[in-house]
Amino acid sequence: MTTSTTETMRWQGDANSGHLVLIDQTQLPVQLVEKDCRDLETVWEAIKMLRVRGAPAIGIAAAYGVVIGMQTVASDDKSEFDSRLAEVTDHLATSRPTAVNLFWALDRIRKHAASFDDGMDRNAKMAALLAEASVIHEEDREVCHAIGRYGAELLADGQGVLTHCNAGGLATAEYGTALSVFFTAQDVGKNLHIFVDETRPLLQGARLTAWELGQRGIQATLICDSMAAQVMKEGRVSAVITGADRVAANGDSANKIGTYSIAVLARAHEIPFYIAAPVSTFDLSLADGVNIPIEQRSAEEITHGFGRQTAPDNVDVYNPAFDVTPAELIAGIITERGVISPVTTENVAKMVGQSA
Ligand code: MRU
Repeated sequence: MTTSTTETMRWQGDANSGHLVLIDQTQLPVQLVEKDCRDLETVWEAIKMLRVRGAPAIGIAAAYGVVIGMQTVASDDKSEFDSRLAEVTDHLATSRPTAVNLFWALDRIRKHAASFDDGMDRNAKMAALLAEASVIHEEDREVCHAIGRYGAELLADGQGVLTHCNAGGLATAEYGTALSVFFTAQDVGKNLHIFVDETRPLLQGARLTAWELGQRGIQATLICDSMAAQVMKEGRVSAVITGADRVAANGDSANKIGTYSIAVLARAHEIPFYIAAPVSTFDLSLADGVNIPIEQRSAEEITHGFGRQTAPDNVDVYNPAFDVTPAELIAGIITERGVISPVTTENVAKMVGQSA
């Protein structure tokens, strides 16, 4: 169905028979269409195939996906409920490996379920699971606005800013992380000019970020990823802000492939490079970025991007979907609690603490 709303996703109906409706991001910018997810496999496929993508949005979709997966439980039997919950959460956890928000949201739902009274019947448990997924969704809206407020203070009217991939409303409940900074700057009267990396191979920058900025009337110029150095050398950019998929305890940050090279370029041109990410994107169990799992995606995304063959048959392909930017290249990490700067293990711990 064609829609006029840009809400990334929403729940429709009650816990027992309702479903998840999400914008199918693979169809943008040509069509703004929604996809109904009525069973576990459809949610899993939507995450895997990037119909819903971006770290916070993946977490929210997975939380609703648990509710959908639990709808097959027919009785009040506690062991049936518990074993299905383990099965559903374990399955959703296999959809994508890098964005820690997926695991954060599934853990949160599991912990919530573990607190259920033994006397609760199935219907009460289902309602409670949906309530927790909705809270995760609502909290993300607030978090994104707070990130925007802190980030907008770092930018001045008239600045050129470069971003990579899509860390916008589509990647979150709404408003985004990096793009929330631009939207909030606009709200307070700062006019920015955003340079948008197209973001090979799946073009989240060209398809999604350029679209979102256009929707809000923010000046934007689309560039190929390989043009970033030239744009910086010409003095068009005085800050870089991207999102993140997982931030380690020392501030090393995984984000869309190509982010690391932009951070290196920013350092070479003495331009501050910022990450905008919620506390739910921090993984304090990892001391640094070395052990962040990097998703490997199919060769066809490179050899047959968007259906057209652009490389010879059987060519060897390497397609990591993310890279890790070392903390020393990051001027600051903009969170909903404030800006971590300089980016050190101590400062990450102070800002993010035990609650991540
Ligand atoms: O593969 P994707 O499109 O899910 O990658 C998304 C990104 O790398 C985003 O920059 C990141 O998740 C931050 S979203 C606020």
